[in-house]
Amino acid sequence: MQSLLSSSVLANPCTTGSPLFPPTAAKLAAAASVPVAAAARSGAIAAVSRRSASGGRCVVAAASSSSPAVTTAEAGEVPATMKAWAYDDYGDGSVLKLNDAAAVPDIADDQVLVRVAAAALNPVDAKRRAGKFKATDSPLPTVPGYDVAGVVVKAGRKVKGLKEGDEVYGNISEKALEGPKQSGSLAEYTAVEEKLLALKPKSLGFAQAAGLPLAIETAHEGLERAGFSAGKSILILGGAGGVGSLAIQVNQPDTHHHCISIHQLNLHLTFTWPERTSRTLQLAKHVYGASKVAATASTPKLELLKSLGADVAIDYTKENFEDLPDKYDVVLDAVGQGEKAVKVVKEGGSVVVLTGAVVPPGFRFVVTSDGSVLEKLNPYLESGKVKPLVDPKGPFAFSQVVEAFSYLETGRATGKVVISPIP
Ligand SMILES: NC(=O)c1ccc[n+]([C@@H]2O[C@H](COP(=O)([O-])OP(=O)(O)OC[C@H]3O[C@@H](n4cnc5c(N)ncnc54)[C@H](OP(=O)(O)O)[C@@H]3O)[C@@H](O)[C@H]2O)c1
Repeated sequence: MQSLLSSSVLANPCTTGSPLFPPTAAKLAAAASVPVAAAARSGAIAAVSRRSASGGRCVVAAASSSSPAVTTAEAGEVPATMKAWAYDDYGDGSVLKLNDAAAVPDIADDQVLVRVAAAALNPVDAKRRAGKFKATDSPLPTVPGYDVAGVVVKAGRKVKGLKEGDEVYGNISEKALEGPKQSGSLAEYTAVEEKLLALKPKSLGFAQAAGLPLAIETAHEGLERAGFSAGKSILILGGAGGVGSLAIQVNQPDTHHHCISIHQLNLHLTFTWPERTSRTLQLAKHVYGASKVAATASTPKLELLKSLGADVAIDYTKENFEDLPDKYDVVLDAVGQGEKAVKVVKEGGSVVVLTGAVVPPGFRFVVTSDGSVLEKLNPYLESGKVKPLVDPKGPFAFSQVVEAFSYLETGRATGKVVISPIP
């Protein structure tokens, strides 16, 4: 696995800067460029090919002029090496280094190789980098990143549903804390099990799609585990964050389309959850009947909470939610306020804790990545009725990954911190 991150000792005309990790000759030989089928569509991005050190060809893609983000697939070959952010020691943001010649990961039979167009950061990326999960982490060095949106450029022998050229998105590590991928999404290529991916909604750009997977899977799984159902009320602690902003949306209490302009953030959001009877879409069915959705945030984000669908927006800088008279059937704690959260849950209700202390009857879970959840939500994303919330400070350029981590770690992000385009 070490070789996965290896740098070429040879000068690589596709890259600049110093190698971070030593190469193995075998890996470099094996990783010589592999042809893949052309995946370009009309109006596609320009692809510029150059000779690589191994004699293969590098493909550098430039975004379509029609969108600030990469909007379509690319044609070309898989090079031997790639640009990737990586760290070989735990610590603060200074451990992050841009490796200009990391080895492109190999794929297993059930995996596809994704040419990454956009990635998103989650708090778990920062906690993992700090060494909080080192006991169950994959070995160093690590290319961080769980969330990805990009194009399939190679498919393993047992891959049935995806093919080269497919535009996909997903959370690349099935278990966030138990052996997450060593070669993550903050790179030009990443290897992902087919079952963790879904086709990207065509209506979403790569940057928008990249912000969804881990957060929406967490919101979905949390509400399912809480047994959220028609007529129940919910309080979401941390309503403006990546998870909270999606949890509010999936609790829209009626079947009308909500067209909301958030002028402050220059965003336009539309949401709906049509009634369905399938098991997986029980979430949508249940959320229609939510009797009340409350959420907490600081003063400048109260309008956003309301726009996302909250009936009650609680300013945590002015009020203690636990001192208010209202009680809720479900409390989703995305902040780490477990002790207070249990004070506002009704008898027999559920307190879903995503971080911090767990006080009975609260319970905690760690999200499981599942492409089928994204697939089932895709029609609503595809139609534009549900949209992701990308923090307006982004998307961050690939060269600004350290700054993006710093911003995420302020704990003040609104929606998702996205990196795009890549590279
Ligand atoms: N267990 C799991 O599987 C799982 C999955 C995903 C996430 N998580 C965890 O859940 C937490 C939230 O994740 P995230 O991605 O939503 O984080 P995030 O996007 O970084 O959250 C940032 C948001 O938190 C809000 N916030 C901070 N302090 C607050 C407070 N005291 N009250 C209300 N809101 C507050 C901020 O709003 P203001 O600026 O208004 O303060 C900001 O908008 C993280 O600790 C993450 O590690 C766990």
